[in-house]
Amino acid sequence: DKGGWSSFMAKEINDQPDAVENTVRGRVSPSGVEIPELTALGDERLRGIDRIIIIACGTASYAGQVGAYAIEQWARIPVEVQLSHEFRYREPVLSDRTMVISVSQSGETMDTLMAVKYAAERGVTTVSVCNTQSATIPRESDAAVYTHAGPEVAVASTKAFVAQITALYLIGLHLGRVKGALSAEAAAQAIAQFDELPAKVREAVDTHEQIAQLAHWMADTRSVLFLGRHVGYPIALEGALKLKEIAYIHAEGFAAGELKHGPIALIDHGQPVFVLVPSPRTSPLMHSKVVSNIQEIRARGARVIAVVEKGDTAVLPYADDVIRLPLADAFFEPLLQVVPLQWFALELSTAKGLDVDQPRNLAKSVTVE
Ligand code: M6R
Repeated sequence: DKGGWSSFMAKEINDQPDAVENTVRGRVSPSGVEIPELTALGDERLRGIDRIIIIACGTASYAGQVGAYAIEQWARIPVEVQLSHEFRYREPVLSDRTMVISVSQSGETMDTLMAVKYAAERGVTTVSVCNTQSATIPRESDAAVYTHAGPEVAVASTKAFVAQITALYLIGLHLGRVKGALSAEAAAQAIAQFDELPAKVREAVDTHEQIAQLAHWMADTRSVLFLGRHVGYPIALEGALKLKEIAYIHAEGFAAGELKHGPIALIDHGQPVFVLVPSPRTSPLMHSKVVSNIQEIRARGARVIAVVEKGDTAVLPYADDVIRLPLADAFFEPLLQVVPLQWFALELSTAKGLDVDQPRNLAKSVTVE
């Protein structure tokens, strides 16, 4: 049931405040964060973990990339992200102190399932972040941390993505506390952010009208670039993937710092570039770097669409369009920034008369390697 929306994807974008709230529910209290499925593994085992590898494909891998920054920061455990289908072939160095966290909406992605089995056979602790109850991957894992985004029907993943990031953050906080790497105060600050998150995601969803206008003017666009830094970088990759998937438009995401190392040569008159601007309050250094990037591309003719936190006026002289989002701590910005990018892909797909929910050549769940 599309709930009155024109597509499942539109409904699912709109469901995102509930998706994050339901994923947090029961795992966060004023006294802390606890994921019972991780507790069941035993604190000794968790304290022994000295390396985490997140494996996933597509959008789930971008959620993994966002989560990796937070888990590493909070738990002080080195975290890397690998595409499931690349994992086995490099013959990764694994031990009984390694944790592999798989991320999969369906829990049936064959590439990810094979990677999980490969890891499990080598004595690794396997944790599954999955949206589908009793799917194969969580059943094959030592622990299943379910996202509670509800069934996702559209091929393009939206609400599962924000729920995956949320679940990975909860895992990072849980591990950080168990390992003693994270103070109770720092955990409490993150928990406070979770409390405010659904209302903020709702505000991000409310950018729809503005984005629809923007997409209307840009209906003939043939290529779009996305720039981000730190946790904004995987969001840039996700924004580009969404456009490719459902609007069949060439799009690329870059780490903003890479611009000068090549991609800036692509900038030509009128080239649309979405820039995810970190908060000047929480990330002043990154903010000033990204504002410089905006100046560089603007000077070369780019059409800049800046995604900023409300009140950030630094970009105004250089941006053609400004999308304003609520204030949030740095790790919580991606959960807001991705929403207008989802709407943008949906609106361009619609403007081109395409089937938003069933893009060509794609299946919701990829069950072959
Ligand atoms: O079910 P999974 O999360 O394992 O699926 C992984 C990817 O196939 C999936 O995220 C794909 O990239 C989506 N179509 C993205 O919108």
